[in-house]
Amino acid sequence: MNAGTENIVTQGRLPVDTLKRPLRDLRISVMDRCNFRCPYCMPRERFHEHYPFLKTAERLSFEEIIRLTRLFVPLGVRKLRITGGEPLLRVNLPDLIADLNGIKGIEDIALTTNGVLLAKYASELKAAGLARVTVSLDSLDQEKFAVMNGGFGRVSEVLEGIEHAQAAGLGPIKVNAVIQRGVNEEGVLPLVEYFRGKNVTVRFIEYMDVGNRNDWREQMVVPSRDLVDAISARWPLVPVKPEYAGEVARRYAFADGQGQVGFISSVTQPFCGACSRARLSSDGVFYTCLFAQTGKDLRGPLRAGASDEEMDQLLRGVWTARTDRYSEQRAVIRARHDVQPKVEMNYIGG
Ligand code: GTP
Ligand code: 5AD
Ligand code: SF4
Ligand code: SF4
Repeated sequence: MNAGTENIVTQGRLPVDTLKRPLRDLRISVMDRCNFRCPYCMPRERFHEHYPFLKTAERLSFEEIIRLTRLFVPLGVRKLRITGGEPLLRVNLPDLIADLNGIKGIEDIALTTNGVLLAKYASELKAAGLARVTVSLDSLDQEKFAVMNGGFGRVSEVLEGIEHAQAAGLGPIKVNAVIQRGVNEEGVLPLVEYFRGKNVTVRFIEYMDVGNRNDWREQMVVPSRDLVDAISARWPLVPVKPEYAGEVARRYAFADGQGQVGFISSVTQPFCGACSRARLSSDGVFYTCLFAQTGKDLRGPLRAGASDEEMDQLLRGVWTARTDRYSEQRAVIRARHDVQPKVEMNYIGG
């Protein structure tokens, strides 16, 4: 077979990685900056006013994001998630959503935000074709909330953002809460109580060792099992079947019919086995794991004029060579002393 025919043959196929995992989700970070400084993601002392955030020209333009997304579709991508930093800080974001929404093959576009700017943009985002939003909210208590986000914004603004998103039809809305031992675990039951019956699913995330700057210690992780026990003692829970293979959260329904609650347990119950997620940083680096150390630069070839076919080969090459399963290997990897720096969360999205 000559190289030409080989290209045609591989182009028709959906690639799988070395562990036979297909590619289905593309998480696109559109902005590395954030208007919060959550200590577990962008600790204030390290992400200070002189921190070298990307310059505008370094970030992918909307045209580049759209071209890359189109190129990812033949590889199997059907779901998009727009992340940051804080994605709503990206100027004219609804225009990007509208164009992404026009790409044939894309079935779902969601966005993860800290919620502060949601009241302002909810209806515009909906009109552009955004399907749903996930809002991060670690505590309903203003003081704890401030500790968890470095002292910015108010709980009331986030709740208002959620209400606007619901009114605009950006549901079903999910709320993500990172729980840290000794910091905000007291706030778990109040969060459940507040959102039960409001058609909002709260998902508790185990604190993870993403990036290099949050001084993660395993003792700070509250295992999801403990939270399931605490919540079900007050509101009996019934496990719900995953909506799709490799769903990140394990969900439970309230036995009294007041909705659902979820748990994202990357530390105690890793879910790498069915991980079909790729990540694109705001400067166009393609990462195959949230805990990756390196990625493949796509912006360079894109700006150097690579053809669609060349880009297709590049993307396929990365995915078929993928071996990542960090969460399953965390203990072994962390025990080594030669660990290379990982990519930062604000740069790659959640
Ligand atoms: P939907 O099911 O479509 O709503 O998406 P999702 O569950 O992936 O939603 P979301 O982006 O809100 O993910 C929730 C959080 O789970 C992220 O912010 C991360 O903290 C964590 N997470 C998501 N994907 C991964 C992953 O591949 N690996 C690990 N370790 N954590 C992940
Ligand atoms: N551990 C767990 N979740 C995290 N997030 C950010 N950093 C961490 C971490 N170290 C979550 C945010 C948000 C999503 C983007 O990722 O709270 O919900
Ligand atoms: Fe910003 Fe989200 Fe990181 Fe907090 S977790 S600093 S809101 S990107
Ligand atoms: Fe996927 Fe990496 Fe998360 Fe495992 S640790 S689920 S491979 S992103």
